[in-house]
Amino acid sequence: MTQTPKPAGKRLFVKSYGCQMNVYDAERMADVLGPEGFAETADVADADVIVLNTCHIREKAAEKVYSELGRLRVLKGERASRGLDTRVVVAGCVAQAEGAEIQRRMPVVDLVVGPQNYHRLPDLLARARSGPVVDTEFPVEDKFDHLPAPSRQVMQRRGVSAFVTVQEGCDKFCAFCVVPYTRGAEVSRPVAKVLADVARLAEAGIREVTLIGQNVNAYHGEGPDGRDWTLARLMARVAEVPGIARIRYTTSHPLDMDDALIAVHRDLPQAMPYLHLPVQSGSDRILKAMNRRHDAAAYLRAIDKVRAARPDIALSSDFIVGFPGETDADFEDTMRLVDRVRFAAAFSFKYSQRPGTPAADAGEQVAEPVKAERLARLQERLEAHRQAFNAGALGQVMPVLVEREGRHPGQLVGKSPYLQGVHFDAAGSGLRIGDIADVEIVALSTNSMTGRLVGERASAA
Ligand code: 5AD
Ligand code: SF4
Repeated sequence: MTQTPKPAGKRLFVKSYGCQMNVYDAERMADVLGPEGFAETADVADADVIVLNTCHIREKAAEKVYSELGRLRVLKGERASRGLDTRVVVAGCVAQAEGAEIQRRMPVVDLVVGPQNYHRLPDLLARARSGPVVDTEFPVEDKFDHLPAPSRQVMQRRGVSAFVTVQEGCDKFCAFCVVPYTRGAEVSRPVAKVLADVARLAEAGIREVTLIGQNVNAYHGEGPDGRDWTLARLMARVAEVPGIARIRYTTSHPLDMDDALIAVHRDLPQAMPYLHLPVQSGSDRILKAMNRRHDAAAYLRAIDKVRAARPDIALSSDFIVGFPGETDADFEDTMRLVDRVRFAAAFSFKYSQRPGTPAADAGEQVAEPVKAERLARLQERLEAHRQAFNAGALGQVMPVLVEREGRHPGQLVGKSPYLQGVHFDAAGSGLRIGDIADVEIVALSTNSMTGRLVGERASAA
């Protein structure tokens, strides 16, 4: 994203950690600072304002910020010796959780700003000129009302697929999770505002939207009729926006996987056959201790229903191993659930004690080597299932949304409906970025697939 240097322009560098919500927020921060004369740079040494958009979900993620800040202290000093001013900003969930403590530990930080306040960045940066500033209040105003829309050019540069926040925060209070504290209570954006964002993206040529939220299937935004709309209803309406060929959503909670949403996977052609549905554990005892409010059987029932509605659907999940009190037998329950579902993709983590969450104080913490061993076993199994799922693609013809040019002349790279990366030779085809092509999968490697172009289409999924 480096741009031709403009002598008077200021440079912004944003580094995001963690979830898609942070990726989205990082773009909005650039949108807020764009009208203030900031252009994004990919070179941190070149930046007048450096934003670390942080993640607090696990200890490792949070600690990364501090090592990065150590490096930035050196950089800021070097720039100062050349007469250049640098502002260091910590945004995101570590900012929300630790607030002023960050500045105490790392005086290099000029500004700490929480996820609900970054629409005030221009003002906060101005205030930070005369001393450190912290803003982690939950504001009364809706930040989305204060975020300028990105220009058409900026939208296009970001690619043919875009995230749209429809819901933020979480009321579920899983015993291990900081999200209800860092992102706050669950809030859904009104349907009209979501649709306006989607329409603007579609007009700029964006073909795929991923509706995001910490608990996106709990969506209940106000509709034009004054009633609360479900995610299912919202998706049906988003599908009517001209140009939008593909709709995804993430992340979901099993309890909110209602029949209407499941039916969307059967009935709405734009709904991609992919569902990320975190289960965390396959043990009823551990699920209860985690306050997940469902057991393994309920999760499997939801999966069975989704598969009945859309048999080819790719399923993905999150797992935590070594939650306090997890025994070998509990872990075997997780392995059994994994074998039963055969996920196409998954994220798995060792339980990490998070200050302020109920599980952090639980007595029976699992020893580190036990966690490590369980994680290795689980990941090996998940990887085998992922590869088996991908192997099923061989010989199939799939619609591939073209995202970019490949490394070789004439080569294009895109995504299958199942989020698999596919590259193929399109020399002489006239296909362009944003088109959807029928591609036969002819070879597999660990992280991508090779295809052969068999047909072009412009607007189908
Ligand atoms: N330790 C380990 N993993 C966690 N996650 C959330 N909190 C923790 C924690 N304290 C994982 C969950 C969640 C994903 C986003 O991160 O699996 O679904
Ligand atoms: Fe965290 Fe649970 Fe809410 Fe997901 S549902 S954000 S894991 S509290």
